[in-house]
Amino acid sequence: MSVEQGTPPGRDGLFRTKTIEQSLRDTEEPEHALKKSLSALDLTVFGVGVVIGTGIFVLTGKVAKETAGPATAIAFAVAGVVCALAALCYAEFASTVPVAGSAYTFSYASLGELVAWIIGWDLVLEFALGTAVVAVGWSGYVRSLLGNAGWSLPDALAGTDVASGFGFDLLAFVLVLALTAVLVLGMKLSARVTTVVVAIKVAVVLIVIIAGLFFIDSANYSPFIPEAQPQPSGAGLQSPLVQALFGYAPTNFGVMGIFTAASVVFFAFIGFDVVATAAEETRHPQRDMPRGILGSLLICTVLYVAVSVVVTGMQHYTELSVSAPLADAFKAVGHPFYAGVISFGAAVGLTVVCMILLLGQSRVFFAMSRDGLLPRFFSVTHPKYGTPYRPTILLGVIIAIVAGFTSINELATLVNIGTLFAFVVVALGVIVLRRTRPDLPRAFRTPLVPLLPIVSVAASVWLMLNLPVETWLRFAIWMALGAVIYFVYGRKHSRLTTRAPQGE
Ligand code: ALA
Repeated sequence: MSVEQGTPPGRDGLFRTKTIEQSLRDTEEPEHALKKSLSALDLTVFGVGVVIGTGIFVLTGKVAKETAGPATAIAFAVAGVVCALAALCYAEFASTVPVAGSAYTFSYASLGELVAWIIGWDLVLEFALGTAVVAVGWSGYVRSLLGNAGWSLPDALAGTDVASGFGFDLLAFVLVLALTAVLVLGMKLSARVTTVVVAIKVAVVLIVIIAGLFFIDSANYSPFIPEAQPQPSGAGLQSPLVQALFGYAPTNFGVMGIFTAASVVFFAFIGFDVVATAAEETRHPQRDMPRGILGSLLICTVLYVAVSVVVTGMQHYTELSVSAPLADAFKAVGHPFYAGVISFGAAVGLTVVCMILLLGQSRVFFAMSRDGLLPRFFSVTHPKYGTPYRPTILLGVIIAIVAGFTSINELATLVNIGTLFAFVVVALGVIVLRRTRPDLPRAFRTPLVPLLPIVSVAASVWLMLNLPVETWLRFAIWMALGAVIYFVYGRKHSRLTTRAPQGE
């Protein structure tokens, strides 16, 4: 097969592209191939399984209390719209390029190798740190359940939020290692476990919504959008970039607070894009990817808005708990039994979120390694289980250590900025690919191209601008590190450099 539509291999350009045909052929090399076993339903379950997690179970309370009040529901809707726009772009890409790696693969086919590297590196950040965030959230819920049973861990092993001295989150560390082992043993097992756990998690969310309805006090909705308040002085690096750029005094609450809140609760939606990373393992990707992505996103948006309306109606936003808001709202109205059930469901549900994020990052790493941008050693699948066990183990151990030693807050916003950046690249990629490869069959076509992708880019950038200055700085450091690795290693070892043209 020729490479007529891609850049000829060996050409030394930063914008050399890998052809769609080449991406597809790579997946057919038996040693580097993943098993095709997932259906649209599996994908939707997979999506809902990863999307509902720490975002709704933990961040809702914090954001309502500190940034948006009852208007947190609007923040969820705003973040949902931003994700829906991105999802429509993701769906076209995923159904056109059904190969492991998500936005990474798509951008390799459309925007060139440098952009692909940037996005792959960025996705590793999203999934790896996302796993750590969720593991720490899980650990909090499990400790609270253990506490109910009268057990507690020594302070030094109960998380990093100890007032002084050594703090290690033993439970988060152990969880990540255990899930790494499950993933190495194979996709099938994970999908089955996922289905059961997703059912428990959705049931718990529905309990919150339905049981909670009976305890709403409409007085708690007033004011629905609390008046803007200045942020404490000295919060400089924590103020949203947009406020720092335009020199306003940074505020919480008010209309701007809704956008700040949206940029944080955005974390609650992360994961629908993970569905796209499983394209190569899907039986009918052309048809099932769009269904899986859009279906899981829609379900989650409706649930989130409902949960935040109910919870801020049950308790005044100033009284909400920041560690277990959904359970504590039931305690506050005198129903500790519901609180226990919710805590248990949250702990079970977060386990699966963690597992799928871990899966997503190992697949991106796998795809980058298969392309030679990272050592090819990592893209040899397990002879028996057919899983990319090497990156899974390497990254699993690193993430376990990060989860053990790092606090949730700093990581969550960094995950958000990385993900929003990936959305921007994917949306641009849709426009570029329509021009460079109009001939490709697209099972799903993004409507209103280029308008919709442009609006998607603007919406994602707007949320990014609402993230704190320090998050931007950390993100810049991560990306700079990635650039060094690419120019020192990836560029030279890329299969587009090393493959002979006649081998194509
Ligand atoms: N969306 C996932 C969560 O909220 C990552 O935990």
